[in-house]
Amino acid sequence: KIIVVDFGGQYTQLIARRVREAHVYCEIVPFDAAMDRLTSEDVRGYILAGGPNSVNDPGVPMCDPALLDLGKPVLGICYGAQLMAKLLGGIVDKPETGEYGGVDVVYDERCALFAGLNPNSTVWMSHNDAIVKMPQGFVSAAHTPHCPIAAMAREDQQLYALQFHPEVQHTKLGFDILKKFLYDICHCAEEWIIGDLAGGMIASLKAEIGDRRVLSALSGGVDSAVASVLVHKAIGDNLTCIFVDHGMLRKNEAERVLQVYRDEFGMNLIFVDAKERFLSKLKGVTDPEEKRKIIGTEFIRVFEEEAAKIGSPEILVQGTIYPDVIESGVGHANTIKSHHNVGGLPENMAFTKIVEPLRGLFKDEVRALGVALGIPASQVWRQPFPGPGLAVRILGEITPYKLKIVQDSDAILREEIAAAGLERDIWQYFTVLPNVRSVGVMGDGRTYDELVAIRAVTSSDAMTVDFARIPYEILAKISSRIIAEVDHVNRVVYDVTSKPPGTIEWE
Ligand code: XMP
Repeated sequence: KIIVVDFGGQYTQLIARRVREAHVYCEIVPFDAAMDRLTSEDVRGYILAGGPNSVNDPGVPMCDPALLDLGKPVLGICYGAQLMAKLLGGIVDKPETGEYGGVDVVYDERCALFAGLNPNSTVWMSHNDAIVKMPQGFVSAAHTPHCPIAAMAREDQQLYALQFHPEVQHTKLGFDILKKFLYDICHCAEEWIIGDLAGGMIASLKAEIGDRRVLSALSGGVDSAVASVLVHKAIGDNLTCIFVDHGMLRKNEAERVLQVYRDEFGMNLIFVDAKERFLSKLKGVTDPEEKRKIIGTEFIRVFEEEAAKIGSPEILVQGTIYPDVIESGVGHANTIKSHHNVGGLPENMAFTKIVEPLRGLFKDEVRALGVALGIPASQVWRQPFPGPGLAVRILGEITPYKLKIVQDSDAILREEIAAAGLERDIWQYFTVLPNVRSVGVMGDGRTYDELVAIRAVTSSDAMTVDFARIPYEILAKISSRIIAEVDHVNRVVYDVTSKPPGTIEWE
């Protein structure tokens, strides 16, 4: 495996995902991890990732210099490159001209990182500092107009450093360079193939669980679904899935989940129709956080009641994935907002064990695994959906009348986005009922009716988003269909706010 050392850079996870895309297993480890965690025999090489700091500032993240002296290959990227230079006696300083964005580069083909690649290419730069003097024994292996040391290497010690970012798509040959490091320099084999992993995962789940009974809260979301299907394949009917329909789901969603997991996969699934129960608890409630709290608490109650009915299985399966558990040492990961845990683990239930089969996987790997397990694409590529569901898309009190408007308009939006082939380009897309009425004219008469807003955003992690640039013709079609087909709607608007300052949801 490869160890990616994290110094708090925004691209660390991207580097790790690229390594895995090259079918090499890797783990992200914080810069201050103890050496014995970094030095197991199966480690074939290290990547020192980027970071927001300057290596010359006091107290910035550093790794143990001994890492550069293990006789194993090391690739420094951006901050990691500068750190390598500094730790080995080179000089890092602010150059006269910084470089940002795509710049022309010339690679030295004699360096194993670039052998056989087109020497004239483009790289993505983003740095304030640069290596101005290389440590002893290093040679420059690439240059750009303003950066004579865009890459440096000391090949007798297998030490390599790149000032630019090979992990981003704007660096044209970036993936090739990473692969050269992995295959030619670290001698890794292409062994990390998601489809091939399923069998082993199922076998080890079988061994881990034995004949004990397991419970799962199936929400229809990708992670919980893939985790549950894996466990089901391992232990069959000893897994019970509980699916709670709190009434705030999208149109036909509950039916679809039942059809896929109960009918097609034959899973032991308890379907709880709790629509009335949730609606009555939410009656008259208008505050968003209050709504979240009620739904979260009630969800846990329903879940506990159902679990008790079947004699409370002792193991819980959860769809935790790798980005949820990466420790960073720099305090930037794990910034999940507390309110996003609604629908999460019932904390006071007594499970003797939690099984998290996806703990080591990135989201794209979970999807690939889902496909390999035969889960339909519509489920595997489902957009993120908040635990409290449509409750945070209906501003103010939730009523069946409002739920129907949001469900029907949302279904039309989804149909049209699918018809336009935009499903995978847009991170989330849905309709919102802001509780606003406005005047319109339909047929011969004046109307005074509901306004529906369309929210559609592009993003890679939901932390920052841009509003999606859906073509006007498609928006026009969605708008006229919603007004024509959904009762009580006479106006449709498009939300053109990014995040920050907006959030994705309206509540
Ligand atoms: P915001 O609106 O904060 O949303 O930009 C970021 C992401 O989180 C989802 N979201 C939630 N998920 N429970 C959840 O499970 C919640 O209460 C909740 N609120 C927002 C939202 O859909 C987006 O993906």
